[in-house]
Parts: sequence; C-alpha cells; structure tokens
Amino acid sequence: MKLQKEFNSYLADLAVITFKLHNLHWNVVGTQFVAVHEFTESIYDTTFEYFDEVAEHQKFFGVMPDCTFADYLKNATIKEIPAKKFTAEEVLSIVHEDLTTLRNKATELRNAADEEGWFSAVALFEGHVDYYNKQLWFVAATLDK
Ligand SMILES: [Fe+2]
Repeated sequence: MKLQKEFNSYLADLAVITFKLHNLHWNVVGTQFVAVHEFTESIYDTTFEYFDEVAEHQKFFGVMPDCTFADYLKNATIKEIPAKKFTAEEVLSIVHEDLTTLRNKATELRNAADEEGWFSAVALFEGHVDYYNKQLWFVAATLDK
C-alpha cells in the first residue's frame, strides 16, 4: 500500500506527542507555570485533532491506519519521557524538538502525497506545517533562540 509506512509513522508521532504533552502540562513548575500549562494544552488539543484527521485521510486513500499503542510506540520518532518536574525552559526545548520532528514528517508527507496526486492530503499537510511553523516561532521567541 502506498505511503503506509510514512502515514503510520506520522500518526504514531501524533499519538505519542499528545500523551507526552500531558506529562509536560501537568508537571511544569515555576513562575511561568500558567503560560506553559495553557500552551501545552493548546498543542495537545491540536495534535489530537490532527491524529484523527490523518487516520481519516489514510482511509480516504486506502491506507490502513495503525490503531494500537504498541504500534505507535514502535513506529514513533518522538519518544516518551518519564514523569518528573519540568522547568518552563525544559518543556519548551522538548516542544521545540518534537514539533520540528512533526514539521519535517508533515513536509515529507505533503511532497509524497503531491506525487500521488492526493490533493486533499497535500492541503491537510500544508495546514499542519503552517501550524507547526507558528508554534516553533512562539517557542523560539520565548526562549530567545
Ligand atoms: Fe489539563
């Protein structure tokens, strides 16, 4: 099946980051708690929406979406981290790294979908890349890097 591995790899990262962000959302500490708590929530709400959108696009194009955590953990590039207290800077650095991974995968999928003529998937991934770019700008500006 075309793009099976690529779609499922991105789907796995969306699953893992959605849960990983809850760890950061709950366990961030410090004077920036509320800002980072709310920022991480806004991202996991979005990645959870994207998770469903991507799987539904897989169905549109006859690509079977993986549906188990075992598969997500096996196929994701983004790795879980154990629960602990996180500083705001640690959270933002992790978010920056993981959103960069998602942006790169969405960009590759956008280009691969274009080669297949799957225009609605191209539009979907372009929207995702646009969102990641904006969040990456927010994080970079906050960290002044
Ligand atoms: Fe919450």
